[in-house]
Amino acid sequence: MTLAAPLEKILEVEIERLLPGGVGLAHAEGLTLFVSLAAPGDVLRVVIDRMQGKVGFASIVEVLKPSPVRIEPPCPYFGRCGGCDFQQLTCEAQLNAKVEIIRDCLHRIAKIDTLPDIPVHHSPNQWHYRARAMWQVDSNDKILGYFERGSNRVCDVEYCAVLVPELQITLEGVRNELRESTAVNRLSDIEVVAGNEGVSVAPPLAGFKTEIVSRIIGNETYLFSAEAFFQINHGLLEPLIAEALRDVNREENAAPGIPSGEPRNEVRSGTVGKSAIDLYCGVGLFTLPLARRFERVIGVEGSERATEFARRNLEFAKLNNAEVLTSRVSDWMKQHARSFGPLDFLLLDPPRAGAENAVVAGILALRPARIAYVSCDPATLARDLKKLIAGGYTLNSIVAFDMFPQTHHVETVAHLILDPGS
Ligand SMILES: C[S@@+](CC[C@H](N)C(=O)[O-])C[C@H]1O[C@@H](n2cnc3c(N)ncnc32)[C@H](O)[C@@H]1O
Repeated sequence: MTLAAPLEKILEVEIERLLPGGVGLAHAEGLTLFVSLAAPGDVLRVVIDRMQGKVGFASIVEVLKPSPVRIEPPCPYFGRCGGCDFQQLTCEAQLNAKVEIIRDCLHRIAKIDTLPDIPVHHSPNQWHYRARAMWQVDSNDKILGYFERGSNRVCDVEYCAVLVPELQITLEGVRNELRESTAVNRLSDIEVVAGNEGVSVAPPLAGFKTEIVSRIIGNETYLFSAEAFFQINHGLLEPLIAEALRDVNREENAAPGIPSGEPRNEVRSGTVGKSAIDLYCGVGLFTLPLARRFERVIGVEGSERATEFARRNLEFAKLNNAEVLTSRVSDWMKQHARSFGPLDFLLLDPPRAGAENAVVAGILALRPARIAYVSCDPATLARDLKKLIAGGYTLNSIVAFDMFPQTHHVETVAHLILDPGS
C-alpha cells in the first residue's frame, strides 16, 4: 500500500509503540523516528520529512508488513485531512494506545512510578459522535473543511464521518452557501454546535443562525451556542460528570476520604460540603451538579458568552448558591486564592495547554481537601500533576474517556487527595 511519495532519505523501520501525539516510535541508523499514521508492529518504508536534533519526523511511503491491528482507514480524506489520525487502527488498538499514552505521560513527565489501573469509558459511537466543530474557509478557492495535516491549507471536505448527522447536513448547506454567496467569503472559520433544537452556527450566515440550543445531561439542562465552549461527544457527558463528582456524591453524605484528623466543614443536610470551586467552568457543565452538592460554589471562566450561559443555566435550575465569574483563572487565583478560606473540593477543566503556573500555585495555596482534574491532554495533565503531587497531593485514580474516537486525543479525570499532615 503506497501512502505518500518518497522525498529524501528512505528507511525501513518497525513501529515499537505509539507515543503522546499519536505518532509511532521507531529507531533506525542511530535515529529516533516519530512516524505519523502508523500502527504498533507495522514494518514500514518511511521518509524523513524534518529533523529536530536526533529525532526525525517521518511519514509512511509504503507498508511492507501491516500490524495485526492495522485496518483500512474508511475516510477518503485520511492522511490529508488533519482531523483524524487513528483511523488506521482497530477500535481496541486505539483504546490501548490511548491508555499507553496516558501511562507514558504519568510515568515520564509526572514521574509517578506506581501507576493506578486506567479504566476506559468507550464512546457510544465510534463514528458520527462529533457534535461541535470548527470548519476552515478558503475563500479564494471557495472550499470548506479542516486544515490539512501539518499545514494551514484547507482540506476540502464534502463528508465528515465523525460528525453527528445534523452537522453533516449543515456542512453541506454551508458549502452551498460558500459557492453562492459572498458573505462566507469574508470568513476564515465557522463554529458549529448541535443541540436538541438544531444547529447553532457562528458567525451567522444566510439560513444558519447562532441559535441558542440545549442538551439535557443527567437531570440538568444546559443552554449554549456556537459562541461558547461545549463538549464534543455528548454521549459521554453523563459518565464524565459522574466520574468527576464521584468523590462528592450525596449518598456518601460527607466529603468522603477527607484525611482523618483534618478539620471537616460542618455539612448542611442534603449537601456533602460547604465550598467547591469549578475552574474553567464554561457554560456550567460541572457547576450545576456541584451546586447541588455544596453550600457555596464559585465558577471561574474567561469567556463572557460562556459565563452568561452558565448564569442562565444556574437560574433555570433554580440554583442560587453558585456564582460564576468572568475572569482569566490565573488572575482570579492571584487575587483570591490566599484569602478564600477552607475549601472542600476543587474541579479544574482547562484547555489543552493545561493550568498556568499561577493557577497551580493558587490551588496549592487554596489546599482543597480533594481535587478533580478533567483534562483533554495527558502531557499537560502530567506536567501539572507533578507540581500538585510535589505540593502535598496523592493521585488517587485516573479514568479515561474515549471522547474523540479516530483521533489520538483522549479525555481523563484524575482525582487527587491532600496528604494527611501536609
Ligand atoms: C475544556 S473547556 C471546559 C469547559 C467546561 N468545564 C465544560 O466541560 O464544558 C475549557 C474552558 O476554559 C475557558 N478558558 C480557556 N482559557 C482560560 C483562561 N486562561 N481563564 C479562564 N477560562 C479559560 C474556555 O473558554 C473554556 O470554556
